[in-house]
Amino acid sequence: MDNAPRMKAVAGSRIIGTGSALPQRAVGNEELVAELAQRGVHTSDAWIVERTGIRQRYLAEPGLTTAGLGARAARSALEAAAVTADSIDLIVLASSTADQIFPSTACLIQAELGIRGGAAFDVQAVCSGFVYGLAVADALLRTGAHRRALVIGSELFSRILDWNDRTTCVLFGDGAGAVVLEASDRPGLLAQRLHADGSRARILCTAGRVDQGKIEGDPFLRMDGQAVFKVAVEVLEASAREVLEAGGLTVSQLDWLIPHQANIRILTATARRLGLPAERMIVTVDRHGNTSAASVPLALDWGVRCGMIRTGHSVLLQGVGGGLTWGSVLVRM
Ligand code: ACO
Repeated sequence: MDNAPRMKAVAGSRIIGTGSALPQRAVGNEELVAELAQRGVHTSDAWIVERTGIRQRYLAEPGLTTAGLGARAARSALEAAAVTADSIDLIVLASSTADQIFPSTACLIQAELGIRGGAAFDVQAVCSGFVYGLAVADALLRTGAHRRALVIGSELFSRILDWNDRTTCVLFGDGAGAVVLEASDRPGLLAQRLHADGSRARILCTAGRVDQGKIEGDPFLRMDGQAVFKVAVEVLEASAREVLEAGGLTVSQLDWLIPHQANIRILTATARRLGLPAERMIVTVDRHGNTSAASVPLALDWGVRCGMIRTGHSVLLQGVGGGLTWGSVLVRM
């Protein structure tokens, strides 16, 4: 330890590029409704739109992997940042749909990108995963031990959905989003707070596990939708207020709110409780469905590529999901 070269701590980190990737197949509500009807599962476009705001989701083709989709999002972020993969010395991958028990999907992405060395690991915080990953990467970059990170959210939730359960299978989709985060003396990550309440693990979980070569327990996503709804609205409001205060900004000074894209009713209720005009919130749940850890970076990249989110804008990124976990990161782009 004594012989280790001195690391020079830096003031913080900033996002220098965003990217995303989606499977090829977009499945609209009508198409999904027809496919589910063939299994004897009955739902409708009207129910899905009215209760969730979702109009379509992307579903992975067989053979697509979480690492493959994550690597595509990472390449798109590297291109936007105009930096090469070999300049990355830290990869943090947020996912609940890892390709293997081990090694981590982050390591698989590292290999796919042709990166050697640095650090690579997964963060498991379900739909809060990207926000957790961003906070962790920022903390590592501040130490000076790492210079440039990829923070990625990549999910293939279609693989853990019970297609006979209409209360969950219409809600989720597959996708990936990424950012390149760089150590900087002009910090762009202004404040962050992360939370968890493990006593509420059962309201949203995929409880199955592999034991002695067999799946033990339920391998599908299960959710008490109403319980999740209630707590999501409460914690998103509290978390937004907490992190805005920590970052020294008021709601009226915030350019964009990007909450986890679970349900349009959760998003609009959060904006209303904060007194934030709905047009200052990025909404992509209609086009992507709920993509868990990928939802926030997908929405961020969409907002950037549409020209809505610009350099200098303040953006509040918010996660809430299984665990229960929640948290926010306030960013200056
Ligand atoms: N199509 C048609 N009818 C349906 C469907 C469907 N797909 N799903 C449920 N219904 C029916 C129910 O059976 C029920 O019928 P009943 O009244 O005859 O019993 C009726 O619709 C109402 O069901 P509710 O569960 O009360 O519907 P609700 O308005 O609460 O909406 C929903 C359900 C959309 C799941 C909502 O509770 C919700 O969005 N919750 C939060 C979910 C969420 O955010 N999850 C992600 C968290 S992120 C993560 O970590 C993965």
